[in-house]
Amino acid sequence: MTARTKVKQALDEGKAGSTILVKGWARTIRNSKGVTFISLNDGSCLSGIQVVAEPDLDNYDEVTGIGTGSALAVTGLLQESPAAGQALELKAQQIEVVGGADQEYPMQKKRHTFEYLRTIAHLRVRSNTFGAVFRMRSALAQEVHRFFAERGFLYVHTPIITGNDCEGAGELFRVTTLDLAHPPLENGAIDFSKDFFATATGLTVSGQLEGELFAQAFSDIYTFGPTFRAENSNTARHAAEFWMIEPEMAFADLADDADLAEAFLKRLCRFALDHCGEDMQFFNTQIDKGLIQRIEAVAQASFARMDYGEAIERLKKAPVSFQFPVEWGLDLQSEHERYLTEQVVGGPVFILNYPKQIKAFYMRQNDDGRTVAAMDLLVPKVGEIIGGSQREERLELLEQRMLETGIAPESLSWYLDTRRWGSTPHAGFGLGFERLIMYLTGMENIRDVIPFPRTPRHAEF
Ligand code: 4AD
Ligand code: MG
Repeated sequence: MTARTKVKQALDEGKAGSTILVKGWARTIRNSKGVTFISLNDGSCLSGIQVVAEPDLDNYDEVTGIGTGSALAVTGLLQESPAAGQALELKAQQIEVVGGADQEYPMQKKRHTFEYLRTIAHLRVRSNTFGAVFRMRSALAQEVHRFFAERGFLYVHTPIITGNDCEGAGELFRVTTLDLAHPPLENGAIDFSKDFFATATGLTVSGQLEGELFAQAFSDIYTFGPTFRAENSNTARHAAEFWMIEPEMAFADLADDADLAEAFLKRLCRFALDHCGEDMQFFNTQIDKGLIQRIEAVAQASFARMDYGEAIERLKKAPVSFQFPVEWGLDLQSEHERYLTEQVVGGPVFILNYPKQIKAFYMRQNDDGRTVAAMDLLVPKVGEIIGGSQREERLELLEQRMLETGIAPESLSWYLDTRRWGSTPHAGFGLGFERLIMYLTGMENIRDVIPFPRTPRHAEF
């Protein structure tokens, strides 16, 4: 029995004249007089291998009736292909129909809209577009780990169930085992001391606070995990469950933070271009014509850095009318972010030093008394891809900021302890992994770069 060869290996390294066994799913089937062509895909690469079946097969009648989507095991002879666009094809000697598929199979050859494909997310992974998306997603996740490993960053698994709302935006999904029909009450409010953890808990919105604790022991750390936000914004860039990469460095300031973010994003761009070439080419022709050129430029660019104050001035002078107001002290909306990165800079730009009232409690207060050492990295088409900051390492200022933002210092006593003993200036950021994949593929909806998207009113599969 021959061992299975993956299609990628057969196409890349196969030798004409050798006999191999491939297994996969029939993407397209073309019957013509006395010959049937089957494009067989096993997910190892975008291309399928062309299987040539002829009447000399024992089960040729069965083979001519194979439906799109069928799972097949094909033993055959690799031979040079006369067809354009492929060097090799497989002349079938034996075709086993492992799992058939009939005419009802929803992924027939014609193009489907992404909206429709979301309703069949269990099957869309068998299409070219989603094959390319998820191969790139996997390859990039591995590259994230290599990048940090090379730099001596410790990989830490921060908790998914937590009692803290790091970003303070009130977007925590509740985790409870209380009987929702009859919750225990105390003075009319739910008594969480009777709950599983004897306190109110939820799903994490960020691993940062725990990441900071580790940075105060290991110097440089990162997290890469699932993140949850009950943010009821139905946009193309927000998901209720997404993956975030959060590095944290002790003995580092905002400039060090931006340097790391820049090196990180460029490295991932370079990697996508050099190691995901076939999939990138596909996106460049099918999804976003300027993609490769844009990513190539970013991989070599030096990212612009602009103060929030200057960004506001630029937006006020912009010869376009925005839907949302532009005023010092207001947060930047997606339309503003995209104008800055696409029109003003024409590439990635860090916006630095935001007003403190629109940022989280943990950010380091600047000497001007009104801004904090925050940074957002904005990129064309996506807008904010990274958010980060230098953290407030001074105990008193941190406590004061917590009180101002309505966070009881006792509730985060462990966090404050790091400022009490051996506190260091430190900084970090979060990269939304789905936003990265959108950026590197040109896919415009976050629902199409995560396997089974969770968004308001959607938790299928
Ligand atoms: O800007 P955010 O909220 O920052 C933090 O969570 C910090 N704790 C990070 C840190 O300093 N360690 O989120 C960081 C990034 C955003 O820039 C965005 O890319 C992504 O996470 N993000 C989302 N991605 C998808 N869906 C959502 N609902 C997202 N919210 C944030
Ligand atoms: Mg942010």
